[in-house]
Amino acid sequence: MSIVILGIESSCDDTSAAVIRDEVILSNVVANQDVHSEYGGVVPELASRTHQQNIIPVVDKAIKDAKIDIQDIDAIAFTRGPGLMGSLLVGTSFAKGFALARNLPLIEVNHLHAHVLAHFIKESNEDNTQPSFPFLCLLVSGGNSQIVVVKDYTDMEIIGKTIDDAAGEAFDKCAKIMGLPYPGGPLIDKFAKEGDSKKFTFNKPRIKDYDYSFSGLKTSFLYFLRDEIKQAPDFIEKNRNDLCASLQSTIVEILMDKLIKASNDTGIRQIALAGGVSANSGLRSEIEKHKDWETFIPKLSYTTDNAAMIAINGYYKFLKTDFTEQDVAPFARLKF
Ligand code: KG4
Repeated sequence: MSIVILGIESSCDDTSAAVIRDEVILSNVVANQDVHSEYGGVVPELASRTHQQNIIPVVDKAIKDAKIDIQDIDAIAFTRGPGLMGSLLVGTSFAKGFALARNLPLIEVNHLHAHVLAHFIKESNEDNTQPSFPFLCLLVSGGNSQIVVVKDYTDMEIIGKTIDDAAGEAFDKCAKIMGLPYPGGPLIDKFAKEGDSKKFTFNKPRIKDYDYSFSGLKTSFLYFLRDEIKQAPDFIEKNRNDLCASLQSTIVEILMDKLIKASNDTGIRQIALAGGVSANSGLRSEIEKHKDWETFIPKLSYTTDNAAMIAINGYYKFLKTDFTEQDVAPFARLKF
């Protein structure tokens, strides 16, 4: 018997719904929110209001794209946290209402576990490119930088994490310093392709074990530019590509140093990337240089926030009958 799960994701500024049959994706609809770009970051109140406008059309489209009937759905999975409270409330309330109305099991999903398990989404029954356990996952997004040992679908251990900013934040904040719009990560990646990564040198942090730190890099980038602009006001425009390339290669080096150390110490050679920053071309090419690793890099549509990863989590929890009660509330600081 096959199992059909409807997944709902609304933790930040993307409203998404997806339908999965067993591990095979049938639809994945994402509505982005352009409303934040003029503010240089996500405005929580605007995000939750936009989720309210988007949620019903997005779910409707996901069901239509999947070419299923609403009666075919066996359970509804939703992001309980971590994320923005107002945003989470919209997806959680929708999922609870849907489950109640259709008398379906409700399944809560941890957004971070979902990023890791995005690797198990199949595009067809013949798709056999999933990692096997255990594997190491570098989870890098706007809010997280973690190295996770993934032992099973529900058994994951963080062995390293950022002690301050996340890698995505470092990209976004340094982009802002250069006057680039939010989110700056993709733009830095774009300009870096035309630049010289050896032109400028920025300090790398010295942090214990597998932990990360990016706040020092951000500060040294800020002070470096402040001093250069004093000499030449058009320094950023003249050096934009080289600045982006040098900054990106420093962030990638910081991420890779700890990942290599974790792989050597644990002996785990299956390495996966997850989270928005895994879209970064510098990081992708660096990871693929390691010929003794078997690497897993998700499709771009599954790296950023999406409901397909929520639905696949829901599927594994469904198999364990790990269901949630109707009195569940979203939890903005839900732990890993
Ligand atoms: O996982 P994600 O979609 O959501 C949150 O964490 O909210 O990650 C978003 C982050 C942003 O910081 C964005 O700048 C970064 O991922 N990002 C990138 C690239 N694409 C997205 N950073 C560097 N290079 C990219 N190509």
